[in-house]
Amino acid sequence: MKCFATFSQEYPELAQAELRALNNKVLFRDTLVVFSDAGLVRRSAFIRTAFALIFSAQGSVIPKIDWNKHITGSYCVRVHGNKGGEKNIAKAIHAQLRSPVVDLENPGTQIQFFFTKSHIYCGKLLWEQYERFEERRAHLRAAHSPVSLHPKLARAMVNLTGVKTGILLDPFCGTGGILIEAGLMGFPVVGCDIDEKYVAMALHESTVIQSDALTLTGSYPYIATDLPYGKNTKTQDLMKLYRAFFLRLRALKTRKAVVGMPSTVACGSLLKGAGYKVQGQFTIYIHKSLSKKIIVLERA
Ligand SMILES: C[S@@+](CC[C@H](N)C(=O)[O-])C[C@H]1O[C@@H](n2cnc3c(N)ncnc32)[C@H](O)[C@@H]1O
Repeated sequence: MKCFATFSQEYPELAQAELRALNNKVLFRDTLVVFSDAGLVRRSAFIRTAFALIFSAQGSVIPKIDWNKHITGSYCVRVHGNKGGEKNIAKAIHAQLRSPVVDLENPGTQIQFFFTKSHIYCGKLLWEQYERFEERRAHLRAAHSPVSLHPKLARAMVNLTGVKTGILLDPFCGTGGILIEAGLMGFPVVGCDIDEKYVAMALHESTVIQSDALTLTGSYPYIATDLPYGKNTKTQDLMKLYRAFFLRLRALKTRKAVVGMPSTVACGSLLKGAGYKVQGQFTIYIHKSLSKKIIVLERA
């Protein structure tokens, strides 16, 4: 089924990279993404509302459509990006329907039009993102850490690894925000944290190991993680840890690693000789004194 969706504009570049990592055939038109893989809707952190495509057209003229084929029962029409157009479009559809039942509150069918700079997209509403991420924010979890990622970012990081099957590893898992999102998407997860407090509280024990991430062994093609950046840790110690972690990726047979770290860290020298290149980089504002960057590493 051909679909299109609106996606969050909080981090447009990160959102586009996430959607591309999920399906390289997506097409972007302003704030819309067009695709034909419904799985995208289920996984994406950033998709807001998804529609089954009724038509798309270049320009701003609506083609002839048999609306009786698309609307049965109650319906409503919404128009975006065409100020004042909603009334006329709704009127024309109403005039064509054999037995129109308009319901603005709880319609059986929602038809929405989007006028972009160059095209019109029209579809039937399939799915809307509710506040599921807010319900999973770290302060609502048993083990709460002030540095936990927002669940939406955690999910985007998992998706940026490109994992389709197999285990997702978070070697610095803390309260397990990344593992929770990967688990909800149906992937087996393995976490590791040096701090026993997190290991005991994070998730099901069998999935979380108490260990120094630098001594982990095994094969982990997909890693998503947020590196430690404790206020009390000396910068040079942190840089040493980051470098040692990057050098460890080859031994873990990692194909893609999506890594969060303070935005001030320059990774060029830390990655020297590790055999990985930066495929993408995104800056995320956390609060006044902290911005993070998320880097996507792939084997060189
Ligand atoms: C930024 S936090 C991770 C936050 C996590 N994403 C969450 O949702 O809570 C980094 C974590 O790395 C852990 N850590 C620090 N050094 C480590 C090491 N050498 N090996 C494993 N974990 C380590 C810390 O205990 C901390 O929980």
